[in-house]
Amino acid sequence: MHRRLIAPSVLTASLVLAIPASAATFSPGAPGIGDAYYPASGNGGYDVSHYDLRLKYQPKIDLLEGTATILATATQDLSRFNLDFGLGVSEVRVNGAKAKFIKEGDQELVVTPASPLAKGKAVSVVVRYAGKPSELSIGGYTAWHRTPDGGVAAQEPDSAVWWFPSNDHPLDKATYDVSVSVPDGTQAISNGVLQLQSSKLGWTRYNWRSNKPQASYLATLAVGKFDITTDKTADGLPVLNAYSQDLGDQAGAARASIERTTEVAEYLTEVFGPYPFNALGGYVPNVKSGYALETQTRPFYSPRQFANGSNVSVVVHELAHQWYGDSVSVKGWKDIWINEGFARYSQWLWSEKEGEGTAQELADYVYRTRAADDAFWTVKPGDPGPDKQFDIAVYDRGALTVQALRNEVGDEDFFKILKGWTAKFAYGNADVGDFVQYAESVSGKPLAGLFDTWLYEPSKPGAPAAAESRIARSDAGAKPAQPKSWKKIAATNTIHEHEHGHDH
Ligand code: ARG
Ligand code: ZN
Repeated sequence: MHRRLIAPSVLTASLVLAIPASAATFSPGAPGIGDAYYPASGNGGYDVSHYDLRLKYQPKIDLLEGTATILATATQDLSRFNLDFGLGVSEVRVNGAKAKFIKEGDQELVVTPASPLAKGKAVSVVVRYAGKPSELSIGGYTAWHRTPDGGVAAQEPDSAVWWFPSNDHPLDKATYDVSVSVPDGTQAISNGVLQLQSSKLGWTRYNWRSNKPQASYLATLAVGKFDITTDKTADGLPVLNAYSQDLGDQAGAARASIERTTEVAEYLTEVFGPYPFNALGGYVPNVKSGYALETQTRPFYSPRQFANGSNVSVVVHELAHQWYGDSVSVKGWKDIWINEGFARYSQWLWSEKEGEGTAQELADYVYRTRAADDAFWTVKPGDPGPDKQFDIAVYDRGALTVQALRNEVGDEDFFKILKGWTAKFAYGNADVGDFVQYAESVSGKPLAGLFDTWLYEPSKPGAPAAAESRIARSDAGAKPAQPKSWKKIAATNTIHEHEHGHDH
């Protein structure tokens, strides 16, 4: 293709001999990976296998400094490539040699290696950097939460650009070693297993390892003063939870919820299959935000989620994402239903198990309390658009879709699908079409019509026959009784109603 750029007249025999035939095909990697909602997310031309981040953070001045070593393979003949990153860079090396680099816009780092990279070649990229993550605002949005005693990186769909250079898209997963040095008495929390903690001259270094493929938005860093609890699961996996020492009145409720992580994971293992990662836990920093996030192995929770008392339901939601979202990840952000529809549905299953309302009762409640003219029904969970990516409809109508599937195929096939899906696509990526196809193959039923209605119609679907008769029986005119678990389930999202300004 790129040979066309050379005028035929200059293609003399001697020139062709002088330049290796492949040289003319080296071209820049794309500045985006091709996401339909976020064209700048991720990059083309290479595939990352591992990130090694060696960092130092000074809470008093919010200064993050360090070196990222990125191991990748070129997937095309590359003349240059992009990384997604926001902080200031002082040096880039590619395969040991100093490379040219420039910053384009607020989140693209364009790297031109001293010599081009052939397709299939192993590439190491070293980036030295420093900056104040809190000063970085991209599109009026920040993934960095400054706290009185430190800072936290946790946001979706992007958080990596605030703290390390990456191919920032779920399609390019990698393993992580995150090593962070912080002042003694302060902790640094990240994903996976704490390999080592060592102190020297007033600084403590924490080495974390996440050894299974991890999407960049699921990598997290939290620096602050935490109380830490540790344990082991029956299978011997380390459990580590961290609670800001400043949680005040919320401390008890937060602990009473998150200390049930092992129990919740055991329940979800029955439903979704083996737990996919090398560690478990959760952390609650002293942030003002209200959302939680399924950061891999160690979800991020906001204190506000425990403002009205303990809430195991939000723990169920974030742990369900370890299978639906983290192990099996979206191919593009428009596939968000596979994450949020199932994470919400797992809260309905937990409610059913706890005797606080069956999934069907919760589905009926959503269906009946949302009138046909509610804007809720205009959001298509199968393609909500970037502005509605985390709209309540993606969660609640998303879970209604899952209930409609359950009613159509029956419990036996339904639970086979829930478990088989996580095995078939473990540690990989899948899209909504893959799910529809998989559900059809397990159940042997055509399901395209059902999914079209529930995922893609911008209006309220008619009540399925089964629901009609239930509603008739339970008095269609009356306001439906609110299932006992409703308020706790809804507390996972209060956030979305209050925080619109922060949404992407
Ligand atoms: N995946 C997260 C959850 O449902 C959602 C985070 C959304 N963030 C936001 N600012 N709306 O648990
Ligand atoms: Zn979620």
